Amino acid sequence: MATSNAPTLKDQSLFIQKSYINGQWVDAKSGKTFAVTNPATGKDIGTMPEMNKDDTQAAIDAAAKAFPSFRKTTGRERARMLRKWYQLMMDNADDLGRLITWENGKPLTDAKGEVTYAANFFEWFSEEAPRNYGDTIPASVVGNRVFTTKEPVGVVGLITPWNFPAAMITRKIGPALAAGCTVVAKSPGETPFTAAALAELAHRAGIPAGVVNIITALDNTAEVGEALTSSETVRKVSFTGSTRVGKILMKQSSDTLKKLSFELGGNAPFIVFDDADLDTAVNGAIASKFRGSGQTCVCANRIYVQEGIYDKFATAFTEKVQNFKVGAGDQDGVTHGPLIHDRAVSKAKAHVDDAVKQGGKVLFGGQEMPNLGPNFFQPTVIRDMKSDMQLAHEETFGPVAGLFPFKSEADVVAMANDTEVGLAGYFFSKDIQRCYRVAEAIQTGMVGINTGLISDPATPFGGVKHSGFGREGSKYGIDEYQIIKTVTMGGMAGELQGS
Ligand code: SIN
Repeated sequence: MATSNAPTLKDQSLFIQKSYINGQWVDAKSGKTFAVTNPATGKDIGTMPEMNKDDTQAAIDAAAKAFPSFRKTTGRERARMLRKWYQLMMDNADDLGRLITWENGKPLTDAKGEVTYAANFFEWFSEEAPRNYGDTIPASVVGNRVFTTKEPVGVVGLITPWNFPAAMITRKIGPALAAGCTVVAKSPGETPFTAAALAELAHRAGIPAGVVNIITALDNTAEVGEALTSSETVRKVSFTGSTRVGKILMKQSSDTLKKLSFELGGNAPFIVFDDADLDTAVNGAIASKFRGSGQTCVCANRIYVQEGIYDKFATAFTEKVQNFKVGAGDQDGVTHGPLIHDRAVSKAKAHVDDAVKQGGKVLFGGQEMPNLGPNFFQPTVIRDMKSDMQLAHEETFGPVAGLFPFKSEADVVAMANDTEVGLAGYFFSKDIQRCYRVAEAIQTGMVGINTGLISDPATPFGGVKHSGFGREGSKYGIDEYQIIKTVTMGGMAGELQGS
């Protein structure tokens, strides 16, 4: 039942306050629930089961039971299921977008954009599923014939964050199902309703019971994570979240030698060279820095601007930020929503205060916005940033843009790489040789040149260094969910019979 603060949807049956195990909507065995709040108002919009390790085990058992028959389906059959799920997402995009806005806070237009982005992972992997080829390999031994097949790794555990309540789940479930794996997904504690709606659409798409299971938890998140990582049945874990938690999950997974893929924190450098097109660079920086109010792992975190263009860039960039309309995501004309919770607001404020203490000048913003609600922070621009400031070393994950001046290409590449993480990096230049040179020198898994938006289901997404390993999306994404089996047949070089 919808509570008074809960979303009104065209199809109200997509607002579900239960977990999904073995094709059934279930409560936690303990009967416990947790409250989900709208970050724009701080008010509760509903509750979800607070599941624990026993509930997680029930989901793992369901996924294990479903695996033997699901792995035998053909790639074409799995493609049809994914395609149907994609279509149902697109048909229900308004409702899914509304759920995302309600629980995550992002403006409705962005939320609907996320639904398309998320559904596109199902479309992409529906196209990959039937084209999942092995090799035939010329053997080194006379008479041997060798071929490889791709096999699903088995039951997989997926742990996803709140910043893209739909897309981070579909980016993992899409390739898992395409490969023939069955899934136990832990939905984000802050944003579980979108995942539940996706599970309902999976059911309507005819995905068999037990193939997709959704566990919900907030306070018990670590316990659920440990149940997944320590299970012998779960053969792979894919996690998107912080570097700190990624390291814990990796340690926990070592006893069962699981296949892992981790998309962890970033601290993206965003470099504007003197020879860049100013408008393109400003627009790219706005798009990259303030996407999701700065709450994505690939958001620009350190904006380096060369001295010759620094003042012009700072002025043009600040003008754009002044025109943002901050507010609740479901209100008309709002361009930027709240942050997810008060801890996110405190971090943004701490980065501003630290920069100001060390000589940074605030060109715009810098304060909380309690008149709008509990979790709002002004989009902020600070100039004269220095490399020993907190923002230079920590991902802000909020709407604070720090502009760092730099002199030379060599200096800025050294500063860009002076971090333990390496997810995304961006730069703007019209010099083609510089484009190659700098792209090769930047230590990140993804580089955007003359663009601030690089995410696309068709392209490999992932990091280097402490940003993790493994790639999502693209033709490589499915590899993370399968093993290569080598079949060697001996004695195959005899004479033709009758010769
Ligand atoms: C993330 O923030 O982890 C994902 C961002 C994206 O897919 O663009």
